[in-house]
Amino acid sequence: MKLVKLIANLGYGSRKDVALMFREGRITDPDGEVLYADDKVAHEHIRVDEEPLDPPTGLILMMHKPLGATCSRKDIGRVVYDLLPPRYRMRDPSLSTVGRLDRDTSGVLLFTDDGALLHRIISPKARVAKVYEATLANDLQGDEGTLFASGTMMLESEKEPLEPAVLQVLEPRRVRLTLTEGRYHQVRRMFAAVGNHVETLTRISVGALTLGDLPPGEWRALEERDIARIFEPPADA
Ligand code: URA
Repeated sequence: MKLVKLIANLGYGSRKDVALMFREGRITDPDGEVLYADDKVAHEHIRVDEEPLDPPTGLILMMHKPLGATCSRKDIGRVVYDLLPPRYRMRDPSLSTVGRLDRDTSGVLLFTDDGALLHRIISPKARVAKVYEATLANDLQGDEGTLFASGTMMLESEKEPLEPAVLQVLEPRRVRLTLTEGRYHQVRRMFAAVGNHVETLTRISVGALTLGDLPPGEWRALEERDIARIFEPPADA
């Protein structure tokens, strides 16, 4: 790919802007030698204003989604994309969330610009486990785990029953729920269907990938071994 297109696609500006950056000598090699738009240079040897070029296409990130941010690009309020470098919003192919979490849900949120990887993670066939911890408004009745695991539970306005889900009771009003699908507001709707109410909700892992010590609002790029963990069963599954 031509350097102007490559750099423009990473969100540094329009092709016209990037052509100007070349003319201004802002695009160099690691020794500060000015590069020209038709040079052939490896990605890792390109500097813009002396800084390494952003990572190439094929990016996958994990964010500790904080409460109060939505996953939609269009919302006028606080959105998760505001927590990424502004250039990342302008990348082509675009970086999108892998599934969504509600505004009032925190925890593991993935982003990628790799359509095939996104499909591999969200495909119902992959059955990637998503583990949530919830606090509830009311004590459990005792039969919720059996219903959630049955594979026959129906949610209002859905045509298909839910896939079996695993409920682990941590305290009378604190649970861990493992899902292998991602329907709209699924955890909240499952508890509402049994007469309860989710007060707080956090996603603690996707597959075996957990947040580790990533603080709320922070993100990091994933490495190959992290990506492999997405497809492994969660630690205490
Ligand atoms: N289930 C919900 O109810 N909300 C989320 O954000 C994720 C799963």
